[in-house]
Amino acid sequence: MAEIEIVRIPVSAENREALASALQAARSSYLAPPACTALDIAHGEGELVALIRWASAEAHREAAQLPSAGELFGQIQQLASGPPSIETLGAPASGQLAGQVALVTGGAKGIGRAVVDAFIAQGAKVAVADRDRAALAELAAAHGHQILPIEADLSTAQGNTNAVEQAVAQFGRLDTLVTNAGMFDGFSDFTNTDVAALDQGFDLLFGVNVKGMILACRAALPHLVRSGGSIIATLSNASLYPDGGGVLYVASKHACLGVVRQLAHELAPVVRVNAVAPGATRTAIGVPDVLGGPLDQTSPEISAAISSAVPLGIHAEPAAHAAAYVLLASRAAAGNMTGTVIESDGGLGIRGLRRTRGGDGLKLQFSGE
Ligand SMILES: NC(=O)c1ccc[n+]([C@@H]2O[C@H](COP(=O)([O-])OP(=O)(O)OC[C@H]3O[C@@H](n4cnc5c(N)ncnc54)[C@H](O)[C@@H]3O)[C@@H](O)[C@H]2O)c1
Repeated sequence: MAEIEIVRIPVSAENREALASALQAARSSYLAPPACTALDIAHGEGELVALIRWASAEAHREAAQLPSAGELFGQIQQLASGPPSIETLGAPASGQLAGQVALVTGGAKGIGRAVVDAFIAQGAKVAVADRDRAALAELAAAHGHQILPIEADLSTAQGNTNAVEQAVAQFGRLDTLVTNAGMFDGFSDFTNTDVAALDQGFDLLFGVNVKGMILACRAALPHLVRSGGSIIATLSNASLYPDGGGVLYVASKHACLGVVRQLAHELAPVVRVNAVAPGATRTAIGVPDVLGGPLDQTSPEISAAISSAVPLGIHAEPAAHAAAYVLLASRAAAGNMTGTVIESDGGLGIRGLRRTRGGDGLKLQFSGE
């Protein structure tokens, strides 16, 4: 089925012509036939309106993966004086989350990005708040009108409030808030980390992991009450067990579990509050410079060490956790669940004392492998 996209881009008088030219130039790449069958541009009061006809929703999705789509979104971000509003006529959404609107914090990369991809595949529209501008542009290029990228510092009240308000202004409602933005402490030992690093590291980690989570929930609350929606927090094995980080990370993720339990109690029966607790996952999670800077958890050595320490023998990819978020976001599947934590950690809770796992010889015993 053909799809018509109406994109309204707020723009100042001085950037208007440059923006119109960027759109026209994309006529030979991202907005090119046969996927894009027509492009009309009109100048409104303080905005530029583009009417884009796509041959089909699928052709539109494929075109949105082109690098030239990312370039155009980047140019729009630079020239526009605010986020575009996008209305799509045609192809109805289908899937477990059809018609739902979600906001995912820290959704530009890693686990949050996998959640965004899964929610969109299940028919949701997703606003993504993050401070990584380049990763947001890549996301916008991949998903086009299904997502709203929002650049924000989520350790501040203003960043969280703006993100929620922009999401609701764009999509008209909010069904699910995923609080996922977070930082790690690089396994900084308590005894070997100096006082200044503990002092600054505490503020940075708790600022986004705990305060940011609470502020996002508070900003989203009126909208979630209206929609009868839910909150899903990204916790961690470090919310439940020691040594999934140093004292700052483990304490911050235990605090996040406290937020989940308290809000699940306070917001029942109207808003459900649940969590997914991933175990070690192949991402390049941020670590403040004062605690040693970024930690790449994707090297073969780290993967091998993690796999041998986990009963299921897996160092998880971000996508491994995504179905748990879809389940919790679905009113049909999880309408009776609140205060629940789904552990997606390869079985840390059943790790043995004598050995990590008991079944290493099972295949040999029963199938000769
Ligand atoms: N990677 C793991 O092994 C692992 C395991 C368990 C839980 N987690 C949790 O998963 C969540 C996502 O982590 P990830 O591993 O995908 O890391 P990641 O760095 O890939 O993703 C985190 C995202 O949050 C964003 N972010 C961080 N601070 C921000 C701020 N102040 N304002 C705006 N955006 C900010 C980053 O830009 C990034 O896009 C975190 O809450 C983390 O604690 C990670």
